[in-house]
Amino acid sequence: MASLGVCAHLAKRLEGKVALITGGALEVGAATTKLFCQHGAKVVVADVYDQIGQALCDGIGPDAAYVHCNPAAEDDVSRAVDFAVERFGKLDVMFNNATVLDNPKPHIVDNTVDDFQKVMAVNVTGVFLGTKHAARVMVPAGRGGVVINTGSVGSEIGGIASHAYIASKHAVAGLTKNAAAELGKHGIRVNCISPFIAVSSLAGRFFGKSEEELRTWIEGLGNLKGRVLRAEDVAEAALFIASDEANYVSGHNFVLDGGFSTVNHAFGFFSH
Ligand SMILES: NC(=O)c1ccc[n+]([C@@H]2O[C@H](COP(=O)([O-])OP(=O)(O)OC[C@H]3O[C@@H](n4cnc5c(N)ncnc54)[C@H](O)[C@@H]3O)[C@@H](O)[C@H]2O)c1
Repeated sequence: MASLGVCAHLAKRLEGKVALITGGALEVGAATTKLFCQHGAKVVVADVYDQIGQALCDGIGPDAAYVHCNPAAEDDVSRAVDFAVERFGKLDVMFNNATVLDNPKPHIVDNTVDDFQKVMAVNVTGVFLGTKHAARVMVPAGRGGVVINTGSVGSEIGGIASHAYIASKHAVAGLTKNAAAELGKHGIRVNCISPFIAVSSLAGRFFGKSEEELRTWIEGLGNLKGRVLRAEDVAEAALFIASDEANYVSGHNFVLDGGFSTVNHAFGFFSH
């Protein structure tokens, strides 16, 4: 009977939880919204693509609700958090997942301050604001909570995307550690998920490749052969971190890259 109890618990790993997901309308955000709802959560999808986000929530039903939110605008973030509390009664999980990319210009001389600041505004200020306003409601509620930030394999290594994007994702990993250090005393766990390049429209746009080209390229590039990273894999990692199974996991940069960033690919000791 005990093992049946465990299985039932794992079947709905977010029963009774309320989550807010920035950038929740597309790809990783949408996959996470669906998975969290399947696991019993109520989810607020916060995004700038209102029609897509609303359609996603309509398709899921009353367990999902959409709110417009530019993560770089404090009023929007504050309103989105208050909306979650008003609609579903509380906030347990804040997933700061939204991102923007600049155009890939490999030479720093060609990069503009304007482009750099736009990326930092959404990717870093957005995570700061999401964490701040989640803490604003989680701390007084006294129930603890979970903050998850989306970094990138580019939060650990350089040379794989633009200066703005890599700087922003390193900053997200740092902010994660600092927020975990502060908020631990309130029982709030703060972690980062750092995915490898996924077969996704974001990667396709950035690297100028079709889905098929992207798949072949990633399969060749990745350390873990015979598979590629998908938005659904990132959602599964978010589910684990959001759930009580990760009860003692905090301050972690959960690098989801099949071991890519742990290997010196130039050395090639195992390449035969
Ligand atoms: N896809 C990948 O290959 C990959 C790799 C590493 C990390 N990541 C990270 O995963 C997360 C999700 O990425 P994704 O693949 O779902 O990307 P995506 O571009 O499909 O989604 C990003 C989301 O952010 C939203 N967004 C919020 N504010 C925005 C604004 N002001 N302007 C434009 N868009 C805004 C978009 O609407 C969208 O829903 C991001 O943090 C990204 O950096 C993705």
